[in-house]
Amino acid sequence: MSEHDQRVAIVTGASRGIGAAVARRLAKDGIAVVVNYGRGREEAETMVGQIEAAGGRALAVQADIGEPSGVRTLFEAAEQTFGNVNILINNAGMMRLGRLAEVDDAEFDVQVALNLGGVFRGMREGARRLQEGGRIVSFSSSVVGLCQPAYGVYAATKAAVEAMTHVLAKELGGRGITVNAVAPGPVETEFFLAGKSEEQVRAVAEANPFGRLGQPEDIAEVVAYLASPEGRWISGQVIRANGGIV
Ligand SMILES: NC(=O)c1ccc[n+]([C@@H]2O[C@H](COP(=O)([O-])OP(=O)(O)OC[C@H]3O[C@@H](n4cnc5c(N)ncnc54)[C@H](OP(=O)(O)O)[C@@H]3O)[C@@H](O)[C@H]2O)c1
Repeated sequence: MSEHDQRVAIVTGASRGIGAAVARRLAKDGIAVVVNYGRGREEAETMVGQIEAAGGRALAVQADIGEPSGVRTLFEAAEQTFGNVNILINNAGMMRLGRLAEVDDAEFDVQVALNLGGVFRGMREGARRLQEGGRIVSFSSSVVGLCQPAYGVYAATKAAVEAMTHVLAKELGGRGITVNAVAPGPVETEFFLAGKSEEQVRAVAEANPFGRLGQPEDIAEVVAYLASPEGRWISGQVIRANGGIV
């Protein structure tokens, strides 16, 4: 395949966790990948080195996805280095737990800015710039279905991502662009482990029908399928990749 035929993907928040597994997995499919990071420059550059050593193409780009210019920076870097973008993975996200009575405005604003604002601007940029036959995959969460106490603001940002996914799928179908969301259950990353005791982590794993936590690679496989040419007839869907908890 010549460089001109190579598909190009942007993965937001790809220095660690699920985003890193997605970037690696897409590179394995021969896709040139923009590996976005917020603070984890070293991790992002190490991964780019590994992808290149395996014969792939990747570029680490710093951008704060919670800021208005974040995703635009990534499209510009991708287009300059690799050419037009085919695939956008809106992965960067954060979670601050707190019962609604206790959440302060700053905690609300920071989650909305990244989880909702970042995905909105990603979708808008993607709608304007993705090639025909393109793919958009955004991250929701299975907590939208579970609705446990303390997850109110986080779940609300992810429910909004699901709503925009359904709408944008209808807006972009005419260009052959699919728009989907993946809603993982608990996945063993810093995001999930932070602040939990070993006992709490074990209890969550045991409560899953598969008796374990999800791994970033479990989720990356789902994203890779949705991003692939074979995923062309799946659009406007939310895939709850969680081992069957909801
Ligand atoms: N883990 C789970 O159990 C779980 C379950 C359901 C849904 N999800 C969703 O899956 C996605 C990935 O979660 P994860 O578990 O992989 O999280 P993670 O381990 O905390 O990794 C988050 C990634 O996002 C990046 N990031 C954070 N803030 C950023 C910002 N403002 N700008 C750019 N990058 C930023 C981080 O990069 P830097 O360190 O470089 O800033 C890191 O690469 C999120 O949308 C999350 O809501 C996760």
